[in-house]
Amino acid sequence: MKIAVCPGSFDPVTYGHLDIIRRSSRLFDRVVVVVMTNASKTPLFTREERIRLLRRVTADLSNVEVDSYGGLLAEYTRTRGADVIVKGLRALSDFEYEFQMALTNRKLYPDAETVFLTTTAEHMYLSSSLVKQVAVLGGDISGFVPACIQEDILRKVERMDKNDG
Ligand code: PNS
Repeated sequence: MKIAVCPGSFDPVTYGHLDIIRRSSRLFDRVVVVVMTNASKTPLFTREERIRLLRRVTADLSNVEVDSYGGLLAEYTRTRGADVIVKGLRALSDFEYEFQMALTNRKLYPDAETVFLTTTAEHMYLSSSLVKQVAVLGGDISGFVPACIQEDILRKVERMDKNDG
């Protein structure tokens, strides 16, 4: 049984992430999407909110589960008995950082391979920070995230606006 871990901050999940998760679910027996901490980002959504949104958008994928972990990806991959870490690559600009992470993870846990899936052309430009910016400024996010989570994102941003006065 081939188990793949699909890590990320998912703040929030976008069509770009979903595309990578969907394609992974066809390549591997089991896919564990894991919400993790990126030391260089401050998330807008709580870990629980990010998990809830991910579970909703992956509900139709029977071999996909959603989890979270606050420690090292290599450690999580080992404890889950996973063989593969799947990452999406959007553009050349992602490559250096992803390459560095893949090599670090290999050093920490040599039994897992990092596999890069190239993002489909239509999702090339998409990122969670772009979705947040558009939502905060009152733009239409329907082209970026599934309909079933749009309300949650807009509500979160609304609350943020009110809190900021
Ligand atoms: O969606 P992101 O923010 O690009 O995901 C990056 C993430 C969360 C996968 C990465 O920061 C990570 O693996 N964090 C867990 C902590 C860890 O293992 N750090 C060392 C990785 S080389």
